[in-house]
Amino acid sequence: MQRKLGNIAVTGGAGFIGSNFIRYLFAQTDFTGRIINVDKLTYAGNQESLSDIQSKHGNDRYVFEQADICDYERMKGIIQQYDVRVVVNFAAESHVDRSIFGPKEFIQTNILGTFNLLEVVRELWVGRNDVLFHHVSTDEVYGSLGDTGFFHETTSYDPRSPYSASKASSDHLVMAYYHTYNMPVTLSNCSNNYGPYQFPEKLIPLIILNMKEEKPLPVYGDGKNIRDWLYVDDHNSALWMILNRGTTGETYNIGGENEWENIRLVHVLCEKMSEKTGKPGDYYKRLITMVKDRPGHDRRYAINCDKIKKELGWKQQIGLDSGLDITIQWYLENEEWVNRIRSGKYREWIDKNYSNR
Ligand code: NAD
Ligand code: DAU
Repeated sequence: MQRKLGNIAVTGGAGFIGSNFIRYLFAQTDFTGRIINVDKLTYAGNQESLSDIQSKHGNDRYVFEQADICDYERMKGIIQQYDVRVVVNFAAESHVDRSIFGPKEFIQTNILGTFNLLEVVRELWVGRNDVLFHHVSTDEVYGSLGDTGFFHETTSYDPRSPYSASKASSDHLVMAYYHTYNMPVTLSNCSNNYGPYQFPEKLIPLIILNMKEEKPLPVYGDGKNIRDWLYVDDHNSALWMILNRGTTGETYNIGGENEWENIRLVHVLCEKMSEKTGKPGDYYKRLITMVKDRPGHDRRYAINCDKIKKELGWKQQIGLDSGLDITIQWYLENEEWVNRIRSGKYREWIDKNYSNR
């Protein structure tokens, strides 16, 4: 069944995936409604990530509202004012390391913020069938895999960091609203994304920028933890299909089917950077520094995404080789964005919590 999609509120639309999702909607879909970007602008949110969209579509098809998803009256007002029919909830504290240093904001935004949004739509939308609440979640809710096996939609939740526990909790609330109140919801659990506009605390942009500045490249533990990498627009195309044709009350796993040990991925990044800068093959590898492991570091993530492939016809389009080329090039060309996002609160936090960065 194809849904008729009305105006879409994208929460967390000034972050990495949210901003790419908004750009994707304008550039690569036939969506004709209005997009309301609702973002608190934490350290991770940056309106400049959408300055091109603001200039082209601002006040007509694109609106920015600085607001906290935990603020009931604000969220209710926004949904009413713009006749929002679809909420795509990206807003979250998203970095595992930060959740270890200080979990409170993760509980606040990821659990209570999602609960608050659900309460707003329960009040405004109950009994309607022309609306949808889509919750963007993570494969980390499933815990950690050994050498074999995959996460399926039916895998039991087993979160092991404050971040993944907060996302797991929000997922349960979303599904509870479906079963209890018949709220039209869909849910997706995705693997590690990479691409332009990712906050440079995450592995891939951190390594690219540290190579550029010839700083140490920190690799946690033995470097053999495995992540399943997906280019951000492949996540966006999956989300677009779910909004249009996903079955209400269902969860969809989204993944790259692209597993890499961290150390091997860092080697690939070093080799690509050498090609770009004309340095010898091993030039950047000498910067690799094995550092203390992340507490509770999940060993391996691997997603089985047969369901979304079979039911919605989704598939990944961008392989790691071209995805990394696009990403490296973007970070090298967007120094101003990088400098701005790395200044202020982020710099203070890094200086307080890490040496060597
Ligand atoms: P991000 O940290 O880059 O962006 C998060 C955005 O949410 C920021 O713009 C921030 O300002 C905003 N925000 C935070 N708290 C808010 C609040 N209380 N009210 C309104 N806005 C708030 O995160 P990301 O990597 O783009 O992740 C987006 C979503 O996707 C998250 O829910 C995350 O759990 C999920 N996810 C991320 C990945 C990944 O690899 N990055 C993979 C799977 C799922
Ligand atoms: O799996 C989906 C998740 O992917 C999302 O839900 C999270 O929001 C997103 O941040 C990401 O979580 P990870 O913890 O996997 O991403 P991160 O980039 O922080 O780390 C990737 C891997 O690299 C992980 O095994 C830890 C390791 N790492 C990370 C950093 C920042 C290092 O070895 N060194 C580092 O400096």
